[in-house]
Amino acid sequence: MKRIVIGCDHAAPYLKGVVKAHLEGRGFTVIDVGTHTTDSVDYPLYAHAACKKIQNGEADLGILICGTGIGMSLVANKHKGIRAACCSDTFSARLTREHNDANVLCFGQRVVGEGLAVMLVDAFLDAEYAGSGNHLRRVSMISAIEDGSFDA
Ligand code: RB5
Repeated sequence: MKRIVIGCDHAAPYLKGVVKAHLEGRGFTVIDVGTHTTDSVDYPLYAHAACKKIQNGEADLGILICGTGIGMSLVANKHKGIRAACCSDTFSARLTREHNDANVLCFGQRVVGEGLAVMLVDAFLDAEYAGSGNHLRRVSMISAIEDGSFDA
């Protein structure tokens, strides 16, 4: 069963709690890197803490929530091996796993309600990366650009 790291800034502890309860209810192991209150914090700290858990193998996938989800996704995508997608529709949340091999889902508490948030999480977690053909080639290109070996 997958291990999911979750994190948020001060804009989203409520929605993180909803997501955490949902994940635990589905039997996932959840690692919560905070924040836990609405006291103002800097979202890069929490995106970075979550991404490190994936990079070091403690977690398989991540869910990051801020006001919009955008700041979290920008920070997450600065990490080697992390492919973060900010989604507010279930089609994109599913396809970013299947086509992009995204390993972090981001969204915003100021953008989506809790019902949609849970549907986004399920769409993301229940999808599988296609892992072959065009999608494998394109994701490999992302990795090559990341490590400086892309030659095109
Ligand atoms: C915090 O006010 C807000 O800027 C943050 O949660 C996030 O939306 C940034 O992208």
